[in-house]
Amino acid sequence: MTATATPTVDATERVHLARAVAIAGRARGTTSPNPAVGCVLVRDGDEVGQGWTGPPGAPHAEVAALTAAGGAADGATALVTLEPCAHHGRTPPCTGALLAAGVRRVVVAHPDPNPQAAGGAEVLRANGVEVCFAPPVFRAWVAGDLEGFLTRVRTGRPHVTLKLAQTVDGHLAAPDPEQRWITGPLARRAVHRWRATVDAVLVGSGTVLADDPGLDVRDAALGDRPQPRPVVLDGRLQTPPDARVVTRGALVITRPDADEDARRALTAAGAEVIDVAVTDGGALDLDAALRSLADHGINTVLAEPGEVLGSALLAAGLVDRLVRHVAVGIGTGTPRPALDGDTTGWVTTRSGGAGDDLIWERVPADRLPAVQEVA
Ligand SMILES: NC(=O)c1ccc[n+]([C@@H]2O[C@H](COP(=O)([O-])OP(=O)(O)OC[C@H]3O[C@@H](n4cnc5c(N)ncnc54)[C@H](OP(=O)(O)O)[C@@H]3O)[C@@H](O)[C@H]2O)c1
Repeated sequence: MTATATPTVDATERVHLARAVAIAGRARGTTSPNPAVGCVLVRDGDEVGQGWTGPPGAPHAEVAALTAAGGAADGATALVTLEPCAHHGRTPPCTGALLAAGVRRVVVAHPDPNPQAAGGAEVLRANGVEVCFAPPVFRAWVAGDLEGFLTRVRTGRPHVTLKLAQTVDGHLAAPDPEQRWITGPLARRAVHRWRATVDAVLVGSGTVLADDPGLDVRDAALGDRPQPRPVVLDGRLQTPPDARVVTRGALVITRPDADEDARRALTAAGAEVIDVAVTDGGALDLDAALRSLADHGINTVLAEPGEVLGSALLAAGLVDRLVRHVAVGIGTGTPRPALDGDTTGWVTTRSGGAGDDLIWERVPADRLPAVQEVA
């Protein structure tokens, strides 16, 4: 499939496509492992239907929009954020629904890289429907909303954002041991907002043992989205059965030869314990662990571990975005790197104040949506 920019997507269609992008945002965080897609149907210049992807098993965006439009879809143009799927998954192919409804033209923001579902544009064209891919700016725009889906399809693992809170001189704990949090309420609320957009929140056993975190969304609106699944990497099954994440149904990832009694106790307390292979160095294979999350329908992960797992994720090249919450007013006087791992060549995608703290986001240059999607 050739997904080139085309001059035939006019200004009016771009406005309708922008609306489809906005509508896709309503589905964000509710559709994994499926992508969150938006669709607008336009006939004779008027919008006649709109839809967004439902939870897994529910209609895709195109079918929701066709249902809303009814007979008005006949002869309409569909403006859709991701190329319509051409395969039978949990639901029938969207290409078939568009053809059956009599849609004449389809404008697409982003091609579908999923080898199982791709080819929708060809199927539509072969059946007499005009298909246009929108200019690259739309691909870059949509790639942000689709980052979890796109990462999983391309790599077999979820998209990983690593968040850490640090002092201005790089320590992950405040100098005063009585101080529970390094950063202030605004930065912490930003973490809850971020949790509200992801499928899973990941820590290592060290953080569970030290802090007993809930890893849930408490200080942000969840809307229709489910709580993110807590995930603990725990090679020795040290997670206590009464840990808060266990009562929330945590996925605990361990090694195949982990203690059977601990495994039974965690399972009885509500956790799901799964095994992954161990590397030659004796640690849990992080790539395999993340792939097992993808097998659980998880497209996006917010990792909030301590230094040990944070450094390991970074060193393994498994971090797609690093978010530092820097308490600029707190220092220890002994500077040190906040994490091991080389971030040379990473690009700052956002930086700004949150109360007394700085939020600083960086992405490996080759994983910027604009580079990946437009190159
Ligand atoms: N400032 C922050 O942003 C922040 C965030 C979270 C926690 N913390 C603080 O960090 C401290 C805990 O530090 P931590 O570094 O021990 O926590 P951690 O990174 O969350 O957990 C580390 C543990 O994860 C397990 N793990 C499993 N597979 C691993 C792998 N492949 N690579 C690395 N680790 C793996 C290891 O235990 P096994 O060997 O048993 O598998 C390891 O000891 C606490 O004091 C907490 O308050 C700070």
